Amino acid sequence: MRALYPALADGHAYLDGAAGTQVPVSVIEAIAAAYREGFGNLGGAFPASGRADAIVAHARAAVADLVGATPGGVVFGPSATALAYRIADALSRGWTAGDDIVVSRLDHDSNVRPWIQVAGRAGVTVKWAEFDLVTGELPTAQYADLIGPRTRLVAVTAASNAIGTRPDVPAIAGLARAAGALCYVDGVHATPHAPVDMAGLGADFYTTSAYKWSGPHLAALAADPELLETVWPDKLAPSSNAVPWRFERGTLPFADLAGVTAAVEHLAALAPRAAAVSGGAPASRRERVLASMAAVEAHESALFARLLGGLAELDHVTLYGKAARRAPTAFFSVTGSSPREAAEFLASRGVNVWDGDNYAYELCTALGLEPDGAVRAGLVHYNDASDVDRLLEGVAELA
Ligand SMILES: Cc1ncc(COP(=O)(O)O)c(C=O)c1O
Repeated sequence: MRALYPALADGHAYLDGAAGTQVPVSVIEAIAAAYREGFGNLGGAFPASGRADAIVAHARAAVADLVGATPGGVVFGPSATALAYRIADALSRGWTAGDDIVVSRLDHDSNVRPWIQVAGRAGVTVKWAEFDLVTGELPTAQYADLIGPRTRLVAVTAASNAIGTRPDVPAIAGLARAAGALCYVDGVHATPHAPVDMAGLGADFYTTSAYKWSGPHLAALAADPELLETVWPDKLAPSSNAVPWRFERGTLPFADLAGVTAAVEHLAALAPRAAAVSGGAPASRRERVLASMAAVEAHESALFARLLGGLAELDHVTLYGKAARRAPTAFFSVTGSSPREAAEFLASRGVNVWDGDNYAYELCTALGLEPDGAVRAGLVHYNDASDVDRLLEGVAELA
């Protein structure tokens, strides 16, 4: 499978996947093929326009299969951040002074700041869910106190992009629902690492960025189309009023959307046995995605145990977070080296890691790590034991 990723041939250990993965040949080819074949804009009378219509329809269906959504409830945008701002702006028009929202200090700032900013304009109170500074857990119990009859929205991540914590989203979303509040789940870091089922999570909105799972640089927001029908974003007069189109501003990146479909197909094919006939019928793409992502989760958690075990043996390393359920993302400081110095040293050894707060701004502030943050080494499905061992050898040399 690594051979499907041309970029990996440069010999570096790509442990930077949490900030964006490399792409397989099939995605590169799908994007090139779309351009080669040619496409027009949407809704025209000629065949090339029909090809754009088909590209968008296929990409919506692909993302729906990835996260367990309805194709008609999949909205595309340039980034999860842009989509959060779009929805925050639209939802907050229905809020009134005295309402409240709940955000968490575990979240990437893209699922915090847009909500705080619109809340400020609407006179809405912001309540904070705190994570445990030692364990990195986001205790669910606090939500029972935070959520009340005036709560309009609970924004929470499905996985921390810094310390990996995967909160109990179904329980949190259940408390939100019981109070009549909406739950906006940031699935950007969670989606590449495990099977996703929006309904199981209880998410009213779920965002995911394709560039975190072997696709191009764009993002999707999934929601029940009936819920989207109740939300009105700012839009141009002649653009479609229909869901999901009215949430998509301007012209979509059609060729990249062809890459989105190819990326989901790539993920669906990761566990070859998932394609086997089940009960007489070939497995659906959704079934193959679920089987593949379960295999990805198993592969990554074995590697992550190796990574965490190795780092724990190094006295000059301080690891942050030890949640029971985690995405395979390690966040650590190295005594005697700034995060940047450590990352530069590792880069000189051919190991790609991130330094900084990775926009987990509230988390890094709470941990006293601003402004330099820490070192982040994240695993994705194409990483292997040699990547982990090279990281461990490099960090050991920093002693
Ligand atoms: C958990 C999480 N949420 C949101 C984002 C922002 O995604 P985007 O770059 O698509 O706005 C990221 C990006 O790193 C992330 O890791």
